[in-house]
This record gives sequence, C-alpha cells and structure tokens, in this order.
Amino acid sequence: DHLPALLAAMPKAELHMHIEGSLEPEMIFALAARNGVALPYASVDALRRAYAFTDLQSFLDIYYQGASVLLHEQDFYDTAQAYLARAATDNVVHAEIFFDPQTHTARGVPMGTVIRGLSRACAEAPQKHGLSATLILCFLRHLSEREAFETLETALPFREHFIGVGLDSSEVGHPPEKFARVFARCRELGFRIVAHAGEEGPPDYIWQALDVLKAERIDHGVQAVHDAVLMRRLGAGRVPLTVCPLSNQKLRVFPDLADHNLKALLDAGLCATVNADDPAYFGGYVNDNLRAVAAATGLTARHAYQLAANSFEASFADAAAKARWR
Ligand code: HPA
Ligand code: ZN
Repeated sequence: DHLPALLAAMPKAELHMHIEGSLEPEMIFALAARNGVALPYASVDALRRAYAFTDLQSFLDIYYQGASVLLHEQDFYDTAQAYLARAATDNVVHAEIFFDPQTHTARGVPMGTVIRGLSRACAEAPQKHGLSATLILCFLRHLSEREAFETLETALPFREHFIGVGLDSSEVGHPPEKFARVFARCRELGFRIVAHAGEEGPPDYIWQALDVLKAERIDHGVQAVHDAVLMRRLGAGRVPLTVCPLSNQKLRVFPDLADHNLKALLDAGLCATVNADDPAYFGGYVNDNLRAVAAATGLTARHAYQLAANSFEASFADAAAKARWR
C-alpha cells in the first residue's frame, strides 16, 4: 500500500493551524521554566494526561492555559520556528498560520511582541526550512465585537506582517453576524477573510460566514453536509473548507474517525483540505491527519492528489507561487 508514502511525500499547503496549538507539552514546560511561570501540572506527563477532551470548550480551557507561558518576543519566535521546522518534514511548502493575539494582550503582552516574534520566524522560513509562511490574525468570538475592534486597532501598526483575519474560539452562541462590522472594516483595509464555522455550530453559521463576513474560506465547515443548498453553494463557488480530522475526532465532532465526512465532501466536488488545527493537542501534524483519515475512511490516490491540489488552490499565495506548485 503506497498511499501513506504518497500522502507524506506530496508537497502541500497547510491553511488551518493555530500557532498556540503547536506548543508541545515539553515546550510549555521549558518556556514556563525560562519565564518563571507557574503551571498547575507537576510534569509533562501530567499535562499530557489532562488532554482528555469532550468538546471544543474543554479543549479551549487547556489551550489558553498552555499559551500563558508565552511572554517575550523570543518565545513567539521559538514557537513559530519549531512549528515551521516540523512542517517542513511533512513536505509543507506553504503555511498560513493563525494566531490569537487577545490571548496574549489580555495578559499584558504587547501586540508588537506577539507579531514581531511570529513574523520574524515566518520571514526566515524560506531560507531556513524551504517553505513560505504568512500570518492570519484571529479574533476570539467569545469576546465582544468592541474588543475585536480594539484588537484590530492595536494590530494595524503591524499590518504588513499579517495577510488576513479569522474568527475562532467558542462557536456555539457566538455566530459570525456578531462580528459583521469589524469584518466589514477588515475587508475595507484589504485583509483576506476566513472564519471558523460549522465545527460544532449549525450550517446557518456557515451561511453567515459567507454572506455576512464574506469569508473566502471556511475553517472546519464539516456541518455543511446537513444542508444540501449550502453544499451546492460551496461546490459551485469552490469555497475551500479547511478540515481537521484528528481535531474533529478528539473534540467528538466525529468520535469515530471512520465516520468522518471528508471523503463525502471531496466526492461532492468541494474544495476540502486536510490540516492539523492544534497538532500538539490533537495527536498529530498534517501528515498524521492525512494518514489517519485516509486509513479510517478509505481514501484513494485520487483523493490524495485532490487534497494536495485543493490546498494550493485554497491558499492566499500569489499566482506565481501557485503556478510553481502546479
Ligand atoms: N475551533 C475554535 N477555536 C480554536 C480551535 C478550533 O478548532 N483551535 C484553536 N482555537
Ligand atoms: Zn481551528
């Protein structure tokens, strides 16, 4: 069976990876020691044992706690640089990386500290690791639209360091329309637009992400299968879905990976891609996700090729880069 080797070796873009979710337990402990941050876990193993999630919120509580060890520009640089080195071993040739500035500014970390550290690692990635990397700023949807506007304002002095904005954190009860005005402003400013929708939330949230926020990609989007009209819209418009199989399994969106609908999305002609979401928390990087979902759902070499092609089509890279990858 050559499929696992094909999945691993094929060049790919990764479009749905939260940098805070790439902090491995060992790195959390090392940064905590370096920065004198107290952790409520006795050991790396004790922390890893706490990664027993039942839904999105149970994950987010631990994920925000893990991010509390990030204080200095060097911490953000080291975290991004570790992810980029690891991504290169999965033959990722382009990464669009999410970051959650409000998780850090709420603890008194300056916006410039976050963005400069991450951006420096991305700028060095072509030389150091042979891949291109850009940043997408995500607003936390459990916070207010006012706080999202304040975050945008604070980030604008660094606007050349991120290409777009997204929406993440607790989905249910925080529909995309809550952020209509701040996303309108982001569009005026020329940012690319993505949003998490239809992970745990209903198809209506995907409609809102498309029609209200004007999202160019939907992060997750797996609940779209429950709305036939929406499926036709996503297919006809080639609206990419950045799917994260191991995340969906660990957060019990599809408790059994064999029940994951990735193959159905691909066979319906949608531009679905495979991504790691939060690799340190969900048990795998992008190739681990590809291997696991392919084995569990019976993907073919044709699906593998389509996933790689979709990842490049769905990326915000320029036309020259896309032509090189074709
Ligand atoms: N969903 C929502 N918020 C997140 C996620 C996710 O999968 N990962 C990190 N923040
Ligand atoms: Zn995500």
